[in-house]
Amino acid sequence: MNVDRVRGHIERIAGFTASPGEGATRMSYSPEYRAACEYVMAHAAGLGAEARLDAIGSVRLRLPSSDAAAPAVLVGSHLDSVPHGGDLDGVLGVVLGLEVMEVLVREGVRPARPLEVIAFVEEEGATFRCPLAGSQLLTGALPAEATGELRDESGRSLAEAARAFACDPARLADDRLRPESVRAMLEVHIEQGRVLESAGVPVGIVECIAGSENHRLRLEGRADHAGTTPMPLRRDALAAAAEVVLAAERLAGEPARPDTVATVGRLLCRPNAANVVPGAVELSLDVRDVHAERLDDAVATLAAAIEAIAERRGLRHQRERTARSEPVACAPVLVELLEETARHLGISHRRLASGALHDAAILTRITEAAMLFVPSVDGASHVPEERTEDADIEQGAEVLLGAVRTLLER
Ligand code: HGY
Ligand code: MN
Ligand code: MN
Repeated sequence: MNVDRVRGHIERIAGFTASPGEGATRMSYSPEYRAACEYVMAHAAGLGAEARLDAIGSVRLRLPSSDAAAPAVLVGSHLDSVPHGGDLDGVLGVVLGLEVMEVLVREGVRPARPLEVIAFVEEEGATFRCPLAGSQLLTGALPAEATGELRDESGRSLAEAARAFACDPARLADDRLRPESVRAMLEVHIEQGRVLESAGVPVGIVECIAGSENHRLRLEGRADHAGTTPMPLRRDALAAAAEVVLAAERLAGEPARPDTVATVGRLLCRPNAANVVPGAVELSLDVRDVHAERLDDAVATLAAAIEAIAERRGLRHQRERTARSEPVACAPVLVELLEETARHLGISHRRLASGALHDAAILTRITEAAMLFVPSVDGASHVPEERTEDADIEQGAEVLLGAVRTLLER
């Protein structure tokens, strides 16, 4: 495992951003996304692997094996980012898959079964408002019709974007990941939290991955003159939205909900003029928990609070669920394999939960899937300051390589 080669890939891909100097902005199907896909495909092709974009624009790199038809070992993550995100989120998991491929090729290993590295498109959901869209479409968690229903801000569907990207979403069925074609899936990811760093442990082995519900909420009051409209007569949509934001924060902060988090990350105010009482607001709701029933309860409680706020303020409101991913447990047999591998390598490790969503969670629907985390400095992620030390990347990579070697032969 050559950490300088890995860091070189990360730095090259970091250069494919729409916001140079202000973090990674690499939206699905954008020119920056294409450049990143082409970079990893070119490198894999140079290793003798099959390298292609699939029907919806995920990157598929496949190392030849002695039995091409055997169920493959998948190593995956994503190349798309949030706006002004970090250089490691998703990218690390893809380049470590590429590095494992390179190590095996340099050793002259022809594995018993295929190794496939996948960069799932639209993992962040930053374009089509549906996190994990690519892995959900490829595993059937979302029906193929969803490619025509998921739309970006401009109303363009994911299928239209994929076609403009020279992909053919009509062929999605040919690229589906099915139980019979997959042996197991591993994803390495930065922790994006503070657990490993505060424990001084370089490798995290993920036991469970949080689930989430995403909603789009629209509050409609009445735009009015800011100077002539008495306070009691106002139907101020932004003041109502402020109550919703605080209700979400308060609810998720309740001691009885230790694993619940709730975030309003996007807010559009209309007409958004300093001297006009806001008439309408659209905001995003992102609610998560590692327990499905607690996630349901948090969403239902927040929905009731929204109803009461709108009622009391005389506002209309519409709430639409835009995405849901279930909390999942990682495959115990893979969790044990990762622990055994780390122990054998003498690498300090610990189990933990993932508060972030990951494609591996979706892959648990069709195969054994598990995750490795490496520490995030200061827990910073989804920001340009996102960083992980080389030594931690190296140790995480060695555990991945060891586990992949075992799975390729088992
Ligand atoms: O939002 C998340 O948890 C992930 O970064 N997509
Ligand atoms: Mn992310
Ligand atoms: Mn990610």
